[in-house]
Amino acid sequence: MKKSILLLLTLILSNVSFAQFTVPELPYSFEALEPNFDKETMQIHHDKHHDAYVTQLNKQVDANPALKNKTVEEICRNVSKYNTLTRNNAGGHFNHSLFWTILSPTSTLPSGLLMEDINKTFGSFDSFKTQFSDSAKTRFGSGWAWLIVDGKGKLKISSTPNQDNPLMDIVSVKGTPILGLDVWEHAYYLKYQNKRVDYIAAFWNIVNWNEVTRRYKEVKK
Ligand SMILES: [Fe+2]
Repeated sequence: MKKSILLLLTLILSNVSFAQFTVPELPYSFEALEPNFDKETMQIHHDKHHDAYVTQLNKQVDANPALKNKTVEEICRNVSKYNTLTRNNAGGHFNHSLFWTILSPTSTLPSGLLMEDINKTFGSFDSFKTQFSDSAKTRFGSGWAWLIVDGKGKLKISSTPNQDNPLMDIVSVKGTPILGLDVWEHAYYLKYQNKRVDYIAAFWNIVNWNEVTRRYKEVKK
């Protein structure tokens, strides 16, 4: 009797596959970013859209042993080796995971070296915001606007289509993103409909500059 239970348990466990990637919890509640980003959009964006990227990425991992035990960053950096589904869903997972962390219900400003380098590189903080907003506004269709640190340690603004990102070996402007803005309609349509410009303006009220500053320090180490 005991042997048959043990055999049954072994059979069950050998067929259980543990997901390599999971959707991270939001570091605040769905309604915390109101009135800038509304509760319903946040809930659908996190629980449905991000979840779908993770589910699809895990399916690619199950189908391709080369993806086993790779981090999402490693997959992005070598994305030219993989298929389009991997590119789109690894990008979707990485981009959204970063996005949730650089938002905050508490208003902050860049500090220390990041503020100094923003002023040096873009003229002023306001000028940086204008240039970044333009990059987000002019991204045709779906995609992202980024503030990145390039290979030479310089700050740069860039944008990518779909779920591509600056880590990927297939994009023209490469670097480590420290701030990203999702300009897919799923990020703003419920509240802002076609007014992407209003969504971008609202974004500036809820950027977690403490986290962006932390990420900048980390890259510059
Ligand atoms: Fe999104």
